[in-house]
Amino acid sequence: MAAKAGAAAFMFVLFLVSVACQAQLSPTFYDTSCPTATSTIRRAIRSAIASDRRMAASLIRLHFHDCFVQGCDASILLDETSSIQSEKTALGNMNSARGYNVIENAKTEVEKICPGVVSCADIIAVAARDASAYVGGPSYAVKLGRRDSTTASRTLANAELPAFFEDLESLISRFQKKGLTARDMVALSGSHTLGQAQCFTFRERIYNHSNVDAGFASTRRRRCPRVGSDSTLAPLDLVTPNSFDNNYFKNLMQNKGLLQSDQVLFNGGSTDSIVSEYSRNPAKFSSDFGSAMIKMGDIGLLTGSSGQIRRICSAVN
Ligand code: HEM
Ligand SMILES: *[C@@H]1O[C@H](CO)[C@@H](O)[C@H](O)[C@H]1NC(C)=O
Repeated sequence: MAAKAGAAAFMFVLFLVSVACQAQLSPTFYDTSCPTATSTIRRAIRSAIASDRRMAASLIRLHFHDCFVQGCDASILLDETSSIQSEKTALGNMNSARGYNVIENAKTEVEKICPGVVSCADIIAVAARDASAYVGGPSYAVKLGRRDSTTASRTLANAELPAFFEDLESLISRFQKKGLTARDMVALSGSHTLGQAQCFTFRERIYNHSNVDAGFASTRRRRCPRVGSDSTLAPLDLVTPNSFDNNYFKNLMQNKGLLQSDQVLFNGGSTDSIVSEYSRNPAKFSSDFGSAMIKMGDIGLLTGSSGQIRRICSAVN
């Protein structure tokens, strides 16, 4: 009886250990199977950003939009087929997400040296890190060993990606559902120190909101009329859109957040103190951003023998 219970307990512990191991990513995952994987990816990413600086922003966002839908499984890269609902045409991605080809090119280079070894999901995660580092943001030890999905879901993408018009409570709860705190969310939103947004995403804010700096609103209205020019771009960080710094937080404290979802982070609510901390302490922002990216990279993983290593990122094998 006791021996049986002991054996059962032992098996249970083994089970727990195997579950834990399966879910475990590691920065050294490819060290023996493909030692030049990360340097090969880095070369491809650097060359893409060198010819299009905005690509740094786009690659960071791509990782976010991958991880929030079915987990970090490269589902965002799959094209539409009779059995795949592509996420590329979801509300938050269509005519907006960029960098698919940059990831595909990096994958092509990696396939040349170690075919069938490195997942597209890991390439996105490494690309986001390399993008951050290239434009002055933190570098951090990306964990690796993710596998690629064999499915995608436009329905989930529509439901789970946050929208620019959401309020603070709603944003906090979205991140909480993914295991991320309000502090993680503020740090990650700090990547709006980079990149561009389309007129339709900030029109309401520059015409109808009261918590917006008047001079800032009037400048933005010049290229974003009440009607039309929906896709005309404006920088998310009005001061330094091409370098990773903490000006985004300083902007928020002056009511110069471009999106409603930016300004709600500093509008008398629970995250004000975090915004003000990051505006005073760029080093803290930088290190928290790195930690939050690592945490985001852990969402909903396929590991072990789940999923597959795609041969090309836009289609399942
Ligand atoms: C808190 C909720 C968030 C909302 C509502 C939001 C919304 C948006 C919107 C509306 C745009 C402009 C898209 C366009 O006009 O085409 C944008 C751009 C961007 N977002 Fe977010 N975002 C959020 C959080 C994040 C997070 C967590 C990250 C990364 C970790 C991120 C990274 C970026 C970057 C880098 C850009 C610029 C992309 C480019 O220029 O290609 N965002 N976001
Ligand atoms: C702003 O509010 C007015 C009055 O509610 C509304 O008619 C208009 O469509 C809103 N948006 C913009 C961009 O003016």
